[in-house]
Amino acid sequence: MSASRLSVAVLASGRGSNLQALIAARDAGELPVDFVVVGSDKAQAGALQLARDAGIPTFTLNPKDYPSRRDYDLALFRRLDASGAQVLVLAGFMRIIDGEALKPWVGRMINVHPSLLPKYRGLHTHRRALEAGDAEHGASVHYVTAELDGGPVIAQARIDILPGDDEHVLAQRLLAFEHQLLPAVLRLIAQDRLALLPPDRIALDGQAQSEPLQLRNGVLVDLSPARLSTTRSG
Ligand code: GRF
Repeated sequence: MSASRLSVAVLASGRGSNLQALIAARDAGELPVDFVVVGSDKAQAGALQLARDAGIPTFTLNPKDYPSRRDYDLALFRRLDASGAQVLVLAGFMRIIDGEALKPWVGRMINVHPSLLPKYRGLHTHRRALEAGDAEHGASVHYVTAELDGGPVIAQARIDILPGDDEHVLAQRLLAFEHQLLPAVLRLIAQDRLALLPPDRIALDGQAQSEPLQLRNGVLVDLSPARLSTTRSG
């Protein structure tokens, strides 16, 4: 484990339950990070209140105050740079980020997305999984690149779709797994065990992965051929 704690910024647009899970993991001593700032595009985001309650500095940037997406995103990253953050977590940040603006953060920025990527990039993932008649659904944490929900997938949580599931029930059941998945991945980053191998692969402990890590019983498991182990040992 690295000697000093990782400085982490979080961007969120909504209620902030994933942020809450990160803060809870930190408070439980499971996540050696300092949250240096939480930013949002929405002044009323529940995530901002959660951050304030936890004593984390916050800011809001309103997209309407900027002439273009790129101008907004450049201003956003200036704020994040000024915070001293080393890593950025998108936890329900509901904006597409300009590909040029995000370039300096590639490899240091992750997102949690409620589908088994590459399936169902974008919105309404639960509905789309149900409409497709899928037997399983899930969530992914991936590195953010210029391609929307398209960066290399680090880890996934999978759940069965059950008879009688509707969009809401499925989303709620999955959310509990997102809350395990995102802290577990950030923990690996804080331990300096993960890296993006451009353009589209990840490495764990210096070894290229052929498959995303899988969340099993709250623990990330490496199912790559010839390398069957959990990631907890480090
Ligand atoms: C989560 O489902 C996340 O996967 C998606 O947006 C939702 C955010 O929820 N990107 P919350 O604000 O963290 O509760």
